Amino acid sequence: MQETLHSGHMLLRVLSQPGALDPKGKVLDRLITDNAPLTVLELGTHCGYSAVRIARGLPLGARLYSVEMDECNATIAEKVIRLAGFDDDTVELIVSPSEEVIPQLRERFGIERLDFVFMDHWKRCYLRDLQLLEGSGLLGKGSIILADNIIFPGAPHFLRYVKSSGLYQHRIHQATLEYFRGIRDGMAELTFIGTK
Ligand SMILES: C[S@@+](CC[C@H](N)C(=O)[O-])C[C@H]1O[C@@H](n2cnc3c(N)ncnc32)[C@H](O)[C@@H]1O
Repeated sequence: MQETLHSGHMLLRVLSQPGALDPKGKVLDRLITDNAPLTVLELGTHCGYSAVRIARGLPLGARLYSVEMDECNATIAEKVIRLAGFDDDTVELIVSPSEEVIPQLRERFGIERLDFVFMDHWKRCYLRDLQLLEGSGLLGKGSIILADNIIFPGAPHFLRYVKSSGLYQHRIHQATLEYFRGIRDGMAELTFIGTK
């Protein structure tokens, strides 16, 4: 518990310093602020860093659903998110694999549309989960999907599909890998433009 609280305080301290304005974080912050999404889905909470980052930019009444399959990570994330001041109405942590959660979003969580999705879980799941999201009918015109690490470790099948499906406008935000400035990476920003 002591260790968890220490991690939480460290994380909050990092978030409150100018150093937290890392290039990828800035892209995430800007997209959240510019689009003011009401319903946000995050795939891959880990310890809650990006969940807090997203939550602090949300408009009043908005809700973030953050999905994490690892129970230890989720326990820490829950503490960090609550320590940062966000209650269950603003950030709901769902401890389950994304492939089980996505098909339940409408019925079990009462979601009718996802305005913004942040994909930051295992890269091999990106394409499968994007297609599950399409199948759920929760993406509408203008829904935004931001996918991290599309250059390193990379998600080539995902990118190929995005470019060829005709369902998305996309742009790549060039960056370097978090904590490793020498490694080139990027985030893909997709805008859902409609049905096939
Ligand atoms: C890179 S970390 C997420 C980092 C976090 N978004 C941040 O920036 O603070 C990836 C996390 O995704 C989780 N994960 C991987 N595949 C998943 C899946 N299919 N469903 C839910 N969580 C998953 C892992 O357990 C891990 O904690």
